[in-house]
Amino acid sequence: MVDQIKTLDDYKKAYKNSIENPEDFWEKQADSFKWYKKWENVLDWNFEEPNIKWFEGGKLNITENCLDRHLETRGEKTALLWVSNEPDGEDKTFTYQELYQEVNKFANGLKSKGIKKGDRVVFYMPMVPELMIGMLACARIGAIHSIVFAGFSSQALADRVKDAQAKMIICSDYNKRGAKNIQVKSVVDNAIKMDCNSVETVVVHKNTGGDIEWNDKLDVFLTDLTDGVEEYCKPEVMDAEDPLFILYTSGSTGKPKGVVHTTGGYMIYTAYTFKNVFQYQEDDIYWCTADIGWITGHSYITYGPLLEGATTMMFEGIPTYPDAGRFWEIVEKYKVNQFYTAPTAIRALMAKGDKFVEKYDLSSLKVLGSVGEPINEEAWMWYFEKVGKRAIPIVDTWWQTETGGIMISPLPLITDMRPTFASYPLPGIQTILVDTEGNLIEDNNVEGLLCIKHPWPGILRTTWGDHNRCRQTYFSAFPELYFTGDAARRDEDGRYRIIGRVDDVLNVSGHRIGTAEVENAINETFGVVESAVVGYPHSIKGQGIYAFVITKGQINDEVEFKRLIESTVRTEIGPIAKPDIIQIVSGLPKTRSGKIMRRILRKIASGDMSNVGDISTLLNPEIVEEIKKKAPTM
Ligand code: PRX
Repeated sequence: MVDQIKTLDDYKKAYKNSIENPEDFWEKQADSFKWYKKWENVLDWNFEEPNIKWFEGGKLNITENCLDRHLETRGEKTALLWVSNEPDGEDKTFTYQELYQEVNKFANGLKSKGIKKGDRVVFYMPMVPELMIGMLACARIGAIHSIVFAGFSSQALADRVKDAQAKMIICSDYNKRGAKNIQVKSVVDNAIKMDCNSVETVVVHKNTGGDIEWNDKLDVFLTDLTDGVEEYCKPEVMDAEDPLFILYTSGSTGKPKGVVHTTGGYMIYTAYTFKNVFQYQEDDIYWCTADIGWITGHSYITYGPLLEGATTMMFEGIPTYPDAGRFWEIVEKYKVNQFYTAPTAIRALMAKGDKFVEKYDLSSLKVLGSVGEPINEEAWMWYFEKVGKRAIPIVDTWWQTETGGIMISPLPLITDMRPTFASYPLPGIQTILVDTEGNLIEDNNVEGLLCIKHPWPGILRTTWGDHNRCRQTYFSAFPELYFTGDAARRDEDGRYRIIGRVDDVLNVSGHRIGTAEVENAINETFGVVESAVVGYPHSIKGQGIYAFVITKGQINDEVEFKRLIESTVRTEIGPIAKPDIIQIVSGLPKTRSGKIMRRILRKIASGDMSNVGDISTLLNPEIVEEIKKKAPTM
């Protein structure tokens, strides 16, 4: 097992050691796993290309480390505790032995359909155990999983399937979420029609048993794949640098890109950060409420916890069904020790009043976690006071799809906490701030652009099919640095507070959405000439989406037209990208070179009308007044 920091002194020593001797530090953690063959080289890297290789030549299988390795000592321990959408539904548990068996069978099922090492398998599934079992089954045979959040549209799914050239899609028939029963298979059927020619098989998990259309050429039920197969599947021998998964995420330009994580480094990094940030102890019950379709679910529902032999919970439902006490009811029922959620959920529950949280016994809790977006002070205090009863540490964890695991976070009861501060970098993470010219800012009590100057094992290696895009996006802004896209404040003691994205990426309810993606979708609407999308402060979602739209001529029915725009966005991306506010405008503020001045639009969208700044360099300064006048009052 990887090292566990217990005291402030341990942290200081580990941090110092990890900076002075990063290779020794990580090699020691790597040694605690099962490898079929040791690596030739701990680290080989440059950030120019970039070329980053951890433990190359080392041979392993991550599922051997998540499952087989625990059988002797934890075979009867609960690995997965799955909680149904329905409060009176049948929850399920899988011991390490049972999870191991299911993964082996699923893996053999995949093989029977011709899936082999290096093939891409896309999952489009709700939060059911089969999703976790399936992703591990892929890893068992060396297939690369790419999980697409089941709230995305057919178009968004098709874009990802085509980019990954996936051979198989695994889905369910329907998805139970709160009181809703959402179609899943039909979304896949529509995606398939959008030229997803690489797909040879669609595997359907019967979740509700509801009606679905059937395509004899492609479709097969999951049970047909796994019934009667061999119980054991020999793990594929993987190189540490073989890809483990692709996860698509939004950037400031173009379509979402496929972030690639490889096997060895990701394994070590998720295990180390899980064990330390959550201070997991052997009999703890750990619950992360994220969806496995996002990186948080990959690293901190599946891989990190299983690597450390933890009991990890997975919840099918939503925080407000049947009422806003659901999370707390589950915490009480299963005596959850570590609870990890997003600020948007905290704000939504806070808005429903304290009575829901006060009703339940939350005394089992030891650590509260937050992830995905900046947590405002009010939400932090509510979490601390109402959920943690002022006794439990909050870990505000900053990280990204690209970082693979948590980068900056307090260590509970070890390092101190300051509300809204993600605080100190974890061992191995060399955070720095630079100004817009890339000059290093050495002082404390400053703001700057957050960069990392040395690789850590969990860093992305490339973007699928387009390495240059990886270089451009993360490694070209400042030479020899990984640029996060975030601005941060560093306080007088060196704690970091994340301010937010400085690029055109929005963070809506913790979901990352590119403004360009939303604009492209809006522009597909009949009657739209051009659009500009910006974020604005939203009390529950953190950021809301504000769209300024230029139309072709006069629109007769504005309400209907806006509805049409919303429905196009749903079709192109999914409901999470639906604009909260649409304002029809006759022009957009542009520079003489034709660039939209988003700075001005952001001010207007946030209601800061009196302070739009200098507009004298605009091609059309008069448009600013017009937009301001017609902006809806919030
Ligand atoms: O802006 C930061 C914000 O979420 C971005 C990464 O989004 P994604 O790749 O979807 O991963 C989210 C889950 C790891 C970051 O660039 N972010 C994430 N965590 C925090 C945060 N902002 C402030 N505080 C955090 N704790």
